[in-house]
Amino acid sequence: MTKAARMFQFNSGFNTMNINKLLAVAGLGAFLVVTNARAEETLFAQIGGEATLKATVDTMTDIMLDDERINFTFANTDLAKFKKLLYEQLCELAGGPCKYTGRTMFEAHKKLNTNNAQFNALAEDLYIAFEKHGVPYRVQNKMMALLAPLQPEVVKKGGTGVPDPDAVPKPAPAAASK
Ligand code: HEM
Repeated sequence: MTKAARMFQFNSGFNTMNINKLLAVAGLGAFLVVTNARAEETLFAQIGGEATLKATVDTMTDIMLDDERINFTFANTDLAKFKKLLYEQLCELAGGPCKYTGRTMFEAHKKLNTNNAQFNALAEDLYIAFEKHGVPYRVQNKMMALLAPLQPEVVKKGGTGVPDPDAVPKPAPAAASK
């Protein structure tokens, strides 16, 4: 082998080694950037943002209205308002750009005499709705973990599960038109 050829071989070996090292460092950097971005992503974003969360709340409300364990409690509820408030609440809890404007959980549920079985039924309905909208199970669980601390406000000790007759007053009948 000529001296020039030996030098070329040496140089190209050297360069390949450096390039490999560079690629490894660049790869590690990219991995760290992606991992860090994931760590900073809000739960709201992981759920899929406004579109997925709103669709989930809509679907959950439909499922809930078919669920005989809890549907009767919503007999007189303004469902459009309920959906708007539940969306705001979940969005805010998940770190999204919302501000919950409804009542406290205690205030909203105090006359419903909610029990643990009903609380679990609603959680189950929410899981099913998340699933229908393709939200990953570990993301669903993160949302549930944020709702769990609300249980003592929603559930009444010794709750019968049957709302007080005036729990959700019927809306006033529309004024008779002339
Ligand atoms: C983690 C569990 C729950 C959450 C996050 C939640 C959330 C909410 C929110 C945001 C509202 C609207 C508040 C307002 O009107 O100012 C609401 C109202 C209501 N919730 Fe819940 N809720 C939960 C559990 C339950 C359960 C287990 C039941 C039934 C057994 C229930 C029945 C109702 C009813 C009937 C209303 C409407 C009350 C009305 O129209 O005045 N909720 N809930």
